[in-house]
Amino acid sequence: MDKFLIHGPTRLEGSVANSTAKNAVLPILAACLLAEEPCVIHEVPLLEDVNTMARLLRSMGVKVTLRRRTMEIVAGGDIEHTADYDIVRKMRASYYVLGPLLARFGDARVSLPGGCAIGPRPVDLHLKGIAALGAEVKLEHGYIHATGRPLRGGTMLLEGASGPSVGATANTMMAASLAGGETVIEAAACEPEVIDLAGFLIAMGAKIEGQGTPVIKIKGVKRLHGAEYRPIPDRIEAGTLAVAAAITRGNLEITNCEPEHLTAVIDRLRQAGATVETGKRRLIVSAGKRPEPVTIATAPYPGFPTDLQAQFTALLAIGRGASVVTENVFEARFMHVLELNRMGAKIDINGRTAVIQGVEQLSGAQVMASDLRASAALVLAGLAARGDTEVQRIYHLDRGYESLELKLGGVGAKIERVSY
Ligand code: UD1
Repeated sequence: MDKFLIHGPTRLEGSVANSTAKNAVLPILAACLLAEEPCVIHEVPLLEDVNTMARLLRSMGVKVTLRRRTMEIVAGGDIEHTADYDIVRKMRASYYVLGPLLARFGDARVSLPGGCAIGPRPVDLHLKGIAALGAEVKLEHGYIHATGRPLRGGTMLLEGASGPSVGATANTMMAASLAGGETVIEAAACEPEVIDLAGFLIAMGAKIEGQGTPVIKIKGVKRLHGAEYRPIPDRIEAGTLAVAAAITRGNLEITNCEPEHLTAVIDRLRQAGATVETGKRRLIVSAGKRPEPVTIATAPYPGFPTDLQAQFTALLAIGRGASVVTENVFEARFMHVLELNRMGAKIDINGRTAVIQGVEQLSGAQVMASDLRASAALVLAGLAARGDTEVQRIYHLDRGYESLELKLGGVGAKIERVSY
């Protein structure tokens, strides 16, 4: 296992390149199952989750090759229709193969994912989506077994207790691309990653309208062909780097990012007193003082992303007053708070709400990462804290951030990866 050793406080300064969005690439790789012909995906981020998706596709007989950052996926020949427990339990996004396998082969067996550190994550809306396309869905031996061919278009409302679902919207959109007739998804997720998946499916020959709005319409086609695509930049990584600039009272240029996808995040950074300039595919973030208190409530896009809640909680922990952060998407997503408190933060949790009494400075400590974004929050806290911080279990972080220590080290952080 690896851990990070961070010596703080440091002030970050310089230019850092953001990677391609993990959450766009994962469904796009699964969508390659919809065609027999080769698909080529450019600028793939070199991440553990991307490796896991490649491993899953290979385990089903798909040819996956990676040259530099270009991945070629060929789902011709004999394809297994099963996603095994061993892979699905490591990465929930394995679920994305359900829609494509079902639509192309009329048969998909996908292990039910297990628990998750950020709270219950049901798959009922994924199943509702494919059932509305005429699939028969059974639970057998811990696996979802979905069958039905041909699928037929249908109208459905994919809204759960916390609002729309990115994953269920994406899965249903992929399956509906090869269903007969028209599908209407109501209460669809509006996230940029859903728009990007629609863009890739359209490049494969799908007929989709309304992506990026709550009503997506898909006219099924008989077959989809191979396509070449470059997915969007990672808005969550860009937001994390922006917080790195603010928490260290530094000045960072973040290249290869899409400021249009970060409206809510830029708004809260400015409320916290940071200066944010936007340009074509870049952001410049600087701060000279402790952050001002801010109220944040996570929400589906275009609201404030749950995937940046932990990082902003770390920032507001050194704020000049009391901030309130409410988590509306994943109820138990506060594992980072106890670790931040061990670094001297004063944060109380009450149900879905964290009340943060800003302290002047955090102090370095040994802390343990519990999930991907919580790990990022601890790294950010370590950059700002006085003394040495040791962040253990960074395999969570490696799932979604490519060489974060090199990126941060390149702009002045004292951070080192150590195997133990
Ligand atoms: C995706 C992102 C994740 C992000 C999340 C919300 C990927 C690989 N992951 O996850 O980083 O935090 O969107 O922006 O893109 N829900 C149900 N039933 C379902 C599915 C979801 O009730 O069948 C609930 C969830 O428990 C949650 C809410 O809907 O409360 C939103 O989840 P969803 O948008 O589906 O998240 P993911 O697609 O899993």
